[in-house]
Amino acid sequence: MRGILWDGELHVRDDVEIGQPGPREVGVRIHHAGLCHSDISVLNGTIPFPTPVILGHEGAGIVEAVGSAVSKVKVGDHVVLTTLGNCGQCDACDRGLPTHCRGSFGALTQRFTIDGAPVYQFANAGVFAEHTVVHEHQAIVIDDRVPLSSACLIGCAVVTGAGAVLNRARVQIGETVVVIGAGGIGQSVIQAARLSNASRIVVVDANPAKQAVAEQFGATDFINAREVDDLVAAVKDLGLPNGVDHAFECVGHPDLIRNSIDLLDWGGTCTMLGVPKLGTEATFVVNTLYNDKSIFGCRYGSTRPHHDIPMIIQLYLEGKFQLDEMVSRRYDLADIGTAIADLDAGELNRGVLDLV
Ligand SMILES: NC(=O)c1ccc[n+]([C@@H]2O[C@H](COP(=O)([O-])OP(=O)(O)OC[C@H]3O[C@@H](n4cnc5c(N)ncnc54)[C@H](O)[C@@H]3O)[C@@H](O)[C@H]2O)c1
Ligand SMILES: [Zn+2]
Ligand SMILES: [Zn+2]
Repeated sequence: MRGILWDGELHVRDDVEIGQPGPREVGVRIHHAGLCHSDISVLNGTIPFPTPVILGHEGAGIVEAVGSAVSKVKVGDHVVLTTLGNCGQCDACDRGLPTHCRGSFGALTQRFTIDGAPVYQFANAGVFAEHTVVHEHQAIVIDDRVPLSSACLIGCAVVTGAGAVLNRARVQIGETVVVIGAGGIGQSVIQAARLSNASRIVVVDANPAKQAVAEQFGATDFINAREVDDLVAAVKDLGLPNGVDHAFECVGHPDLIRNSIDLLDWGGTCTMLGVPKLGTEATFVVNTLYNDKSIFGCRYGSTRPHHDIPMIIQLYLEGKFQLDEMVSRRYDLADIGTAIADLDAGELNRGVLDLV
């Protein structure tokens, strides 16, 4: 089958193989996969990952095989895949914090082979391949009225961005929000902030073309990062002299993390979603946090996938969460190079690879 392999170079292969699912695993025919910045971060070393690896971690498809002990998923189900292969049995899982499950992070799976040699699955998923195998926990059954080309975005961008707002920062009605970076993650933050009835949603992006889409999703204000010298002053000049209740950094740059902290009103939270190069340090002035301000890390929207994904699907079906509009371009799997260049240029909302 076809798949996108990274081994220090990017290859479109047609000789990737995948085994049959084990007792608690499911085999999925991937139909569509979103391209997330984290896939690019593997290529440039920002996120170190062993090779050879089949990339892709934001996918949706149809179940084509189930292991002997699988009970929740059946052949023919439409599913969104999550990267969380959490165990479901530990303290963290029992407390409703599957992103804290020690089994869910850093566990490396090698379910693919090429010429008989094992190949890693990026983020437990490896969805830039026509077929993959995941743990049954990772396959969330969805209503088959939702196009898989839109549903795939839920697997990373949407759970991460919406989860950061709803699960981590817990934005309340009337609060004020700044979103830095309006890619797939930032657009999901904007939409969840709108659904939380935030009173102001100030969006900052270096690409002025992002203004229209940010406003479509709920931004009340837009700042072109390239046009301002002092981002903190520019936000405060929008009638927010004390700063904002919540800042979300969705780029992965220490200067923008610092800006996000300096933008906080008393009691405010800065949620860091962007992933800079491993080992990057950021600074802040200690006294500025004195008035109950907080800096939050946030992995994968602190999501509980079996709760959050059906909720997003329901919001989509009610016309309240826009997924179709987040897809700005579709690519054949073989055009991955173009898709990466477009994403790197900050041009895409989300690019989606078609595998059918
Ligand atoms: N925390 C998590 O669990 C998690 C999950 C997924 C992705 N991520 C990370 O989130 C970040 C965003 O991912 P994405 O897929 O949305 O990326 P993206 O490339 O789609 O979007 C990034 C956006 O930031 C804008 N931007 C770039 N430099 C900027 C600057 N200096 N000022 C303002 N805007 C700027 C770009 O124009 C673009 O619109 C990445 O670092 C990714 O690795 C984190
Ligand atoms: Zn991602
Ligand atoms: Zn667990």
